[in-house]
Amino acid sequence: MPTRAGLPIGRGPAAPVAIRPAAARDVPGVAALWSAIHAHHAPLDPQFEVRPDAERALAALLDDELREADIAVFVAESASELVGFCAVRPRPAPALLVETGRAEITELYVRDADRRRGVGRALVDAALDWVRGRGIERVEVRVAARNAEGQAFWRELGFGDLMDVLQRRL
Ligand SMILES: CC(C)(COP(=O)(O)OP(=O)(O)OC[C@H]1O[C@@H](n2cnc3c(N)ncnc32)[C@H](O)[C@@H]1OP(=O)(O)O)[C@@H](O)C(=O)NCCC(=O)NCCS
Repeated sequence: MPTRAGLPIGRGPAAPVAIRPAAARDVPGVAALWSAIHAHHAPLDPQFEVRPDAERALAALLDDELREADIAVFVAESASELVGFCAVRPRPAPALLVETGRAEITELYVRDADRRRGVGRALVDAALDWVRGRGIERVEVRVAARNAEGQAFWRELGFGDLMDVLQRRL
């Protein structure tokens, strides 16, 4: 199946990849991938360090979230295994603004072995289609300044600078 950019999803010799909305049965697999996002970020800043029971806590949170109307989670599946996922949420704007709301892609992860095969792009395409379908015209993503691959990925997909988040440790 081609992505919007015309690239095949899951290109290369490994098994093909399908993108679909997450179902309740995906909760353990998505929780494992979600905790891998934090493992990826942990060396970048101490704030990303996870507790030992993180995966169980994430599974419970995700189980609740999938019951909410205002979140979409898409998974990438290859040979009956989850290889990536993306979560997106609408964010209503304060009443004083002309823009009524935006969406935020809050999680995106593709496991190491399936990177650079178009899977991340295909997951984001699915999320953006969902956002467009709700009439939302702007999407944000928070990406750590030191996450080099994340920075390169999002900029390649047309995302640009909006705001710097500064921090100071006390
Ligand atoms: C970022 C991430 C989701 C990208 O997933 P992916 O499936 O490898 O991405 P794609 O194959 O769709 O890449 C699309 C394009 O993005 C760019 N890109 C992706 N990874 C890149 C990297 N490591 N370095 C430079 N450019 C990169 C390339 O232009 C790529 O196109 P190409 O392979 O044809 O050159 C994946 O690396 C990942 O899960 N990283 C760890 C978690 C993370 O950082 N998540 C984002 C948090 S904000």
